[in-house]
Amino acid sequence: MASNAPERTFLVVDDEPDILDAIERLFRKEYRVLTANSAAEALEIVQRESIQVVMSDQRMPSMSGIELLEELHKTHPDIVRVLFTGYSNIDHVIDAINQGHVYRYISKPWKPAELRLFVAQAFDYYVDRQERRSLIKQLQSANERMEKQLNLLSIANEELKTLDRVKNVFMEVVSHELNTPIAIILGYVFLLKKELDGARGDLTGKAIEGIDTSAMRLKNISNRIFKMLADEGPTSTLNLEWVTLKDLADELHTQISPFLQKRHQTFKVTLPSEPAQIHADPEKLSDIFLNLLMNAIKFSRDGQTITLSVEAATDEPETYVFSVQDQGIGISDEDVSQIFNSFFSTFESKHHSSGSFEFGKRGIGLGLSVARRFAEMHAGSIHVESVEGEGSRFVVRLPRDPEQIHGLVNDLALDTPKVLS
Ligand SMILES: Nc1ncnc2c1ncn2[C@@H]1O[C@H](COP(=O)(O)OP(=O)(O)OP(=O)(O)O)[C@@H](O)[C@H]1O
Ligand SMILES: [Mg+2]
Repeated sequence: MASNAPERTFLVVDDEPDILDAIERLFRKEYRVLTANSAAEALEIVQRESIQVVMSDQRMPSMSGIELLEELHKTHPDIVRVLFTGYSNIDHVIDAINQGHVYRYISKPWKPAELRLFVAQAFDYYVDRQERRSLIKQLQSANERMEKQLNLLSIANEELKTLDRVKNVFMEVVSHELNTPIAIILGYVFLLKKELDGARGDLTGKAIEGIDTSAMRLKNISNRIFKMLADEGPTSTLNLEWVTLKDLADELHTQISPFLQKRHQTFKVTLPSEPAQIHADPEKLSDIFLNLLMNAIKFSRDGQTITLSVEAATDEPETYVFSVQDQGIGISDEDVSQIFNSFFSTFESKHHSSGSFEFGKRGIGLGLSVARRFAEMHAGSIHVESVEGEGSRFVVRLPRDPEQIHGLVNDLALDTPKVLS
């Protein structure tokens, strides 16, 4: 047995000591060569040594070379098995090779150069196979990890779907259940106002006004929820008309001017120089900008300026870029990624009241998600650029004619009431 073992080790099995000697001498410089003069001894050696290649003679007493290699195939499948024999009848050997028990067969007598080549090839084969196995293992474990992640994702997805359904059902019930009592309250307020007109005392008048305003606010909230749910389904359609941008800006100005006055804020409008029109659903179009403008009013300080500007996009044909800019409190980077989600509102109980235009008042967090949905329904988009403490700029890109872009159908829209923030 060789000492000073290099790590590449092979075992030669032969009952003729001269052959073992010759092979050992031939290979000892390159490999660690172990020898056994019987199959039994070989089986015993492979138990305790780390061996990559076994080379066995076929004709040995008590256990033949093929039998030995078959046994090794079962117990040590990684070892590369080589058989050598001087038999002229090699049917057995062919069978053994075909059944995968033997990697190679070498006939006796061999030329040393040929034997060297065979042994080198056997070691290369061993290394290749190990590498392949380890790659397959890595692939399998990556695959398993991926499958686990996929499973987790699909579970999370299912949970989200359920939550979404629950949320929608809840909102639908809330919205529908609120509608009837609100309508009744508003009806009574109307009757009371009529009945008491001119003859009411201060307190009664104030009380009626209070009930009226609060009921209207509730109605707005309920309408918003309804609107968002109604437009969620694939059947939601647009009622497209040609809207003049100037008319749109004037209408928006009229709607927000009571709030601007109360907050001493200024509204500036810049429109394209030529008379411009956009093909859009007028209600949804003004909802987009009312939401943005009401937010700008709420999140700006008294006396500040809010700007609405529209221009033709320079990077896209037939597209208008609308922007609503304020000099208000701005939005933190953390919140920017969430503000377009339904019901996201930077909730703080001291801010969170039903105020619709007062400084810093948050609503239920539907305005921006409705605005985004409506912009997308028009094949458009919305995004925000904001610096905390300095102000925000909401940019809405809308195609001049969505019908031309996506062949959207001009159809009856759900008749939903206009909603102010
Ligand atoms: N112009 C803005 N400046 C600063 N923060 C803003 C601005 N617009 C929106 N936000 C932030 O984004 C949140 C979500 O806005 P969104 O319009 O969806 O909800 P809301 O105004 O709170 O309630 P709602 O519009 O449903 O009455 C707001 O609560 C606010 O924190
Ligand atoms: Mg809002």
